[in-house]
Amino acid sequence: MNKFCFVIHPLSLEDVARYEPGAKGKGDAIMRKIMEWMPPWTVAHVTGVRAPDGREIEGWFVCAPLLPEQMIEFRREQVYERILAAIQLGVDLGAQVAGLGAFTAVVGDGGVTINERSPIPVTTGNSLTIGAGVDSFFRGAHEMGIDPVDATAVVVGATGSIGGACVRLIAPKVKHVILVARNETRLQKFHERTAAEVPCETSYTTDISAAVRRARLVLTATSSTNDVIEPEDLQTGAVVCELSLPHDVSRRVAKERPDVLVTEGGNMTVPGTPRFERFRERGSDFDLNLPPRTALACMSETMVLALEGRFEPYTLGRGIDLPKVIEMNAMARRCGFSLADMRAFDAAITPERIAEIRSAAEARRRAGAVV
Ligand SMILES: NC(=O)c1ccc[n+]([C@@H]2O[C@H](COP(=O)([O-])OP(=O)(O)OC[C@H]3O[C@@H](n4cnc5c(N)ncnc54)[C@H](OP(=O)(O)O)[C@@H]3O)[C@@H](O)[C@H]2O)c1
Repeated sequence: MNKFCFVIHPLSLEDVARYEPGAKGKGDAIMRKIMEWMPPWTVAHVTGVRAPDGREIEGWFVCAPLLPEQMIEFRREQVYERILAAIQLGVDLGAQVAGLGAFTAVVGDGGVTINERSPIPVTTGNSLTIGAGVDSFFRGAHEMGIDPVDATAVVVGATGSIGGACVRLIAPKVKHVILVARNETRLQKFHERTAAEVPCETSYTTDISAAVRRARLVLTATSSTNDVIEPEDLQTGAVVCELSLPHDVSRRVAKERPDVLVTEGGNMTVPGTPRFERFRERGSDFDLNLPPRTALACMSETMVLALEGRFEPYTLGRGIDLPKVIEMNAMARRCGFSLADMRAFDAAITPERIAEIRSAAEARRRAGAVV
């Protein structure tokens, strides 16, 4: 049976206790301090991932215990060492390919150096994240009755590995796409190249708020550790497809904007009878904070590579190859993976919920909302 490992890390202090129940009740400062030296550990044993033709794999979630802000603040080498030590745990258990979760794929050069130093091939999982994200983005537009051809879209984090590819995949289907990031020089260069390649109108800005105010459709994929999308900026009946981990969309949007559809774009349904069993506390399940049979798209890409026996560094760095995104989408479908049901703010988005969002948007328009 082919084997994989996937590097996870806590996205917040609450996450630390979910990963390591022994951390419950400890103060924030002490938890941060402990994580400065804490070695990686194996969190979960993954079984039951089975393609429709019967191919099955086995894997492990290994934890590099650093928070997103620590991944950014700590010395690059210190972070690489921690990630490589986590991969080594997977290698010792027999993993043949490794995936990088959340900020372990963002730090430094987006997996290139880690892959060079790793004994097994490494992928960021971004190809499938991009494919799933773009599908979720257009599913959201459809559910809200928005015809993309007439709509302005904004991609926040447009110069990133995920955002850049999403821009190129979204652009042929919308009227106008606005590119947003913080580094203006990089953004301007990326815009120059992209504008020449894509068929729709394009523009760019570093002003997130102004860009979001102009768009019905929003895709966000930044490496920010703070909220980026605020309720005051969203158009009536807007769609926000969220790919970032930790999330970019302020929790206030859930409370203050019942007329807006927010959807996590990077979740996949896993084929077979997947189980994520805690490695040390055998018999109990590891809570991924997702519904049963659901995994992140980046995890799913690593599983697909294991199922297909493609032990190669499939997705690395910031310049994503669009044909590989298309190939990975096709491989994932062949292996039985599909886009997970819509979800946001820890809850499912049912058809009834969509109807409520649409009628809240109608009511807001009738009440004279300007946008
Ligand atoms: N759901 C999933 O399965 C999944 C899978 C993989 C990754 N992810 C998540 O996706 C996100 C993006 O990953 P990536 O690999 O594309 O990262 P990346 O290559 O580092 O790109 C990050 C982008 O965000 C921009 N950015 C950072 N902070 C910003 C801010 N405060 N405001 C506006 N733009 C900002 C960056 O440009 P500037 O620095 O110029 O602003 C850049 O364009 C991360 O949160 C990652 O954890 C999710």
